[in-house]
Amino acid sequence: MDWNELEDACLACEKCPLCKTRTKVVIGIGNRNADIMFVGEAPGADEDKQGIPFVGAAGKHLDKFLASLGINRDDVYIANILKCRPPQNRDPLPEEQDVCIAYLREQVKLIKPKIIVCLGRIAAMRLIDPEFRITKMHGKIYKRGAFYISAVYHPSALLRDPSKNEDMYKDLKAIKKLLKEIS
Ligand code: URA
Repeated sequence: MDWNELEDACLACEKCPLCKTRTKVVIGIGNRNADIMFVGEAPGADEDKQGIPFVGAAGKHLDKFLASLGINRDDVYIANILKCRPPQNRDPLPEEQDVCIAYLREQVKLIKPKIIVCLGRIAAMRLIDPEFRITKMHGKIYKRGAFYISAVYHPSALLRDPSKNEDMYKDLKAIKKLLKEIS
């Protein structure tokens, strides 16, 4: 698939019932040649309205961390496990993830990031380990084939519990250091 085919497929997707309640499909945003790709959970209300991932409060919080590390949003690529918003922001269902993950795989193939960073438990459980425990395993770096993968706290979790901000900063700093080492 090329980018146009992928976008067309996502925009026309009716593979799960979320297509009936979505306003916009949220495919992803950022640099298509990025070394770092962030993967969140699913669009929320703001993302569903605008068709862009992480534009609400959680996204603004993520932007602050990126800025404090000298990373521009345009340097990275940001997507989600699900391309459509689950009603009331409930957790994505396994069957929704099963069908939607194919689009994310195509995005990874096209971008070929050096490092994938899962934002929160849902993405980490899907992409790293079904038993992933974010409180214990955040910041650990795994090698998977051609890329490294890690998970950090979801920015919404940081807004609920600011005591985790320091861990987030440390984890992202280590990821930036890894990128420098492997580049
Ligand atoms: N939370 C997510 O996981 N993804 C978004 O795009 C917005 C909020």
